[in-house]
Amino acid sequence: MKTATIFRTTSFILGAALVLFAPTGCGSKTQAPAPAENVKSGGPAIDVSLAPTPPMGFNTWNKFGCSVDEKLIRETADAMVATGMLEAGYKYLVIDDCWQVARDASGRIVADPQRFPAGMKALADYVHDKGLLFGLYTDVGPKTCAGRPASFGFEDMDAASYAEWGVDYVKVDWCNADNLDPRVEYTKFRDALRKAGRPIVLSICEWGRNDPWTWAPGVGQLWRTTADIGDNWESVAWIINANSRLYESAGPGRWNDPDMLEVGNGGMTRDEYKAHFSLWAIMAAPLMAGNDLRVMTEETKEILLNREVIEVDQDPLGGQGRIVIDRGYGGQVWMKPLADGSRAVAFLNLASKELELYVRWAQIGIPAGPARVRDLWAHKDLGVHSDLGTHFDQRFKATVPPHGVILVRIRPGQ
Ligand code: GLA
Repeated sequence: MKTATIFRTTSFILGAALVLFAPTGCGSKTQAPAPAENVKSGGPAIDVSLAPTPPMGFNTWNKFGCSVDEKLIRETADAMVATGMLEAGYKYLVIDDCWQVARDASGRIVADPQRFPAGMKALADYVHDKGLLFGLYTDVGPKTCAGRPASFGFEDMDAASYAEWGVDYVKVDWCNADNLDPRVEYTKFRDALRKAGRPIVLSICEWGRNDPWTWAPGVGQLWRTTADIGDNWESVAWIINANSRLYESAGPGRWNDPDMLEVGNGGMTRDEYKAHFSLWAIMAAPLMAGNDLRVMTEETKEILLNREVIEVDQDPLGGQGRIVIDRGYGGQVWMKPLADGSRAVAFLNLASKELELYVRWAQIGIPAGPARVRDLWAHKDLGVHSDLGTHFDQRFKATVPPHGVILVRIRPGQ
């Protein structure tokens, strides 16, 4: 069995297991927090099998824009295996805008023959042979953001082409579509994918314009919540703020998408990239790398391949972390409940001076008494910390660099 098939099978089993077992949190020593703690109950029935945890992979846009071709995709696929990205969970390789140039006489979408001479089917085969999954981009309007032919009026035909080529993930953008009803258009796309008969993740990219978190669960598996990210701290801080309010909408099979990662693209400091990655993890965001994976520095690898942080993002409970303390001057404490009853806690410093931030166990839903603390960037146990809920100096304290984060996992007990 190819790894891609194993992924699908594992996702399906995990998805089914979540449906059956997630609400009880059974099997863990400490009672797992009920999903309702962070996730709204009710709403449409969600098929979690396609995205039981936030999708992870790579997308061409942030680094390469329209400069995409099959050589880049093959080399990126090779790099995803060689660097350990695939092993760490990054499995979707997605070509964003500009792969398409025209429609043929019968209306079928045509990949740029100069840049993709072997065609999309051959490229998808190459990607699958590496154990990865393959993704493409389109738009619900008549043209993509870069002015390429898009899917309006061709939804069924495009979905059929994707299925024939072996596409596993499609990102559907919102350019040239503002006169349309997003719910109608994306539902049309979902139904076209269903008719095409291949399980394909639908990534809704409508930039949060029409509150997708209120209608997109059950339509797509993830939806953008903001305008495009930039490779700078202002952009990251602004997106964190916007996405922080939406924690109730996320859960297995339904993810807020604060946009792809900029880690490794050069516009931020090491601390800023660590904070960017940590906050995406604590917000249960899709982790789509957006840098050149063929030439990663050790520093970039240390961030993107930090298994303990990835575990926070991929935790099967699927709750999006939320702000539990907001100091107003740039200091925030975030908490994400995890399936084993522990808590991921991020001390975030949005200010430009070092800050000391404190948290009480009561503020993160941990009973008064001892709890074990582990630093997920230092990969170090910080020992048992007792907060009996009585004295100020019993609070857990973190000294956080400017534009930085301290990310810990706290388990109640000795
Ligand atoms: C929009 C999207 C981006 C990217 C570009 C491609 O701006 O939000 O993520 O897909 O289009 O043109």
